[in-house]
Amino acid sequence: VATAHGQTAEPVFNYDESKVGTFTLPDLLVSRSGKKVTDVAGWERRRKELIQLFAENVYGQTPQKAVKLRYQTVKTDESALNGLAIRKQISIYFVDYPQLPPIDVLLYVPKASKKPAPVFLGLNFCGNHCVTAETDIALSTRWMSNGPDGTTVNNRATEKARAMQERRWPIETILKRGYALATAYYGDIEPDHPHGWRTGIRSVLGDTLRADNWGAVGAWAWGMSRIADFLATEPSVDASRIIGIGHSRIGKAALWAGAQDKRFTAVVANEAGESGSALSRRWYGETVERINTSFPHWFCGRYKTYNKRVADLPVDQHELLALIAPRPLYVASAEEDRWSDPKGEFLSAVETEPVYRLYGKVALGTTQYPAVNESVGKTVRYHVRTGKHDVTDFDWEQYLRFADELVR
Ligand code: GCU
Repeated sequence: VATAHGQTAEPVFNYDESKVGTFTLPDLLVSRSGKKVTDVAGWERRRKELIQLFAENVYGQTPQKAVKLRYQTVKTDESALNGLAIRKQISIYFVDYPQLPPIDVLLYVPKASKKPAPVFLGLNFCGNHCVTAETDIALSTRWMSNGPDGTTVNNRATEKARAMQERRWPIETILKRGYALATAYYGDIEPDHPHGWRTGIRSVLGDTLRADNWGAVGAWAWGMSRIADFLATEPSVDASRIIGIGHSRIGKAALWAGAQDKRFTAVVANEAGESGSALSRRWYGETVERINTSFPHWFCGRYKTYNKRVADLPVDQHELLALIAPRPLYVASAEEDRWSDPKGEFLSAVETEPVYRLYGKVALGTTQYPAVNESVGKTVRYHVRTGKHDVTDFDWEQYLRFADELVR
């Protein structure tokens, strides 16, 4: 049975540009009641409506309950990385839910900085011990998906996992450029498997009976905001300059966090793909049906009802990106990462332009798909680099320049 997008009943995916077909996106600047948005006040109302629509249909409702947190500094090194950094390990405990594990934050602050440093805040995929070779970082004892070459045994990290993703976190470069870095394992907030919610924040907040109960992506986004709460109490960082960053599934979370929480001064979405940066209605790479099938715990129950009718979704992902406006936003793709749909990520960014214009800002300022390894745009930036689904030095070089120009 062919749907409006030529998708069959099977969750098949398409890598053929000629088969993408046409699609109509929901109009960013027209409210559900048909009112046209013409100014910032109108957009701020529409913005609230869009957050609700994403909560009801995609990510689920983020519980608004204020949660009591306790920050415990576990370890401080006043001279880490050969004197480059002050490094802290802080655990964020949930006072009213002692059964929950804390979020273990790893924070690096440039020692040379004379004033509070702007900070990149991003969750990591395999524990804080994965982002650095420094052996005095506690090895995470939490559930992990099984990794390669003995880096896990029975879903727990081993010593071999140290520095496993160091390449994705050029900590020294970040510090030398004057930025702090705060990271935590995303599985501290919820382990990434269908039953992970039972040991995470969703076991105590939310309502599993509701079709708009939050999913894991929503929980990870919420966790980023809790780390932002902590950063606001940390004198060595400038909490008015928090750059939320994330790759792939964590990029989806970073976008949803930035959409809801304006304390994220800027957002970087590295290859966030389907249900992140890429347009859902564009039939290329991963689909809504595919993501809901492979990762049934990521989104709210209602999202699955759109599996075979994406055209009925009241939102599309350009509207998620626009929720970041007027703040700086970086959307990045990789040429070989067709699963994330690079062009769909670019087009999504293009669509944000009228919202940034309401604020007198230029978003991308172009509709021309750039050449590979070329960063384009103004307040919204985009690049498609050569290579695979990953985070590379090239990516970070663009993000640091973007932050230098728009955040500092
Ligand atoms: C899978 C998933 C993507 C996700 C990616 C990742 O490929 O289908 O949606 O972005 O994992 O997190 O690396």
